[in-house]
Amino acid sequence: MSNPRILLLGPPGAGKGTQSRNVVETYGVDHITTGDALRANKDVETDYGKPREYMDKGELVPDPVVNEIVVAALEDADGGFVLDGYPRNLSQAEFLDEHATIDVVPLLDVGREELIRRLTGRRVCPECGATYHVAFDPPETTDVCDECGSALIQRDDDTEETVRERLSVYEENTAPLIEFYEERGLLARVDGEGTPEEVWHDLRLTIEDALATGGQ
Ligand code: AP5
Repeated sequence: MSNPRILLLGPPGAGKGTQSRNVVETYGVDHITTGDALRANKDVETDYGKPREYMDKGELVPDPVVNEIVVAALEDADGGFVLDGYPRNLSQAEFLDEHATIDVVPLLDVGREELIRRLTGRRVCPECGATYHVAFDPPETTDVCDECGSALIQRDDDTEETVRERLSVYEENTAPLIEFYEERGLLARVDGEGTPEEVWHDLRLTIEDALATGGQ
């Protein structure tokens, strides 16, 4: 099947962004990420206030704001796509059901302590978006982007306190989607605790399997 439509599910720090880049490179699909879209518009006034007011506390941005971003991105994606960070609750999943067909929902499984280590150690490039980790994937020069030479920053919501809140929000709001997609026969669990290369190896097999089965 060409143009796969993939929904990458997993808690904060599971590696959705890291693995989405592999999916985009391999399948040539669009990367639809509500987190990046919201970060680029953190201080834009909406009917519900600024996205920053929710994001910096680790809370979900109200559904209408996020749904609008996704509908526009889906309209632009004429091939397939990989959804990263959306949907995050049942009402978003039901909204998505009305606007797109999904081929497979890989779930990146990673334990809580590892998630905290990954998120509190993450550093990002504000210019080109490259992502690093101080221990697992450091840049060649400390705090300098290998790709474009800019100074790396820590995301405002990657402090330990906010990370713990994001994980609670995930458990309460997003984890129920596992059952939602299991019931539809779309969920495929992937061990997300190996190296990024090992995770990609397993994720790719999972995607290929699902597409071979669903595409015939
Ligand atoms: P968003 O940006 O979507 O963040 P998230 O879901 O919390 O996910 P992350 O980007 O933190 O983690 P990731 O899984 O992409 O991991 P990554 O690959 O970077 O959302 C941020 C906020 O926006 C939300 O809190 C909310 O306020 C709002 N928002 C977004 N979408 C929304 C929606 N739909 N509804 C409402 N609000 C919404 O990896 C993490 C780190 O680990 C990196 O340092 C990386 O180098 C490292 N790493 C990755 N893989 C491995 C590995 N295999 N081994 C070791 N290290 C690894």
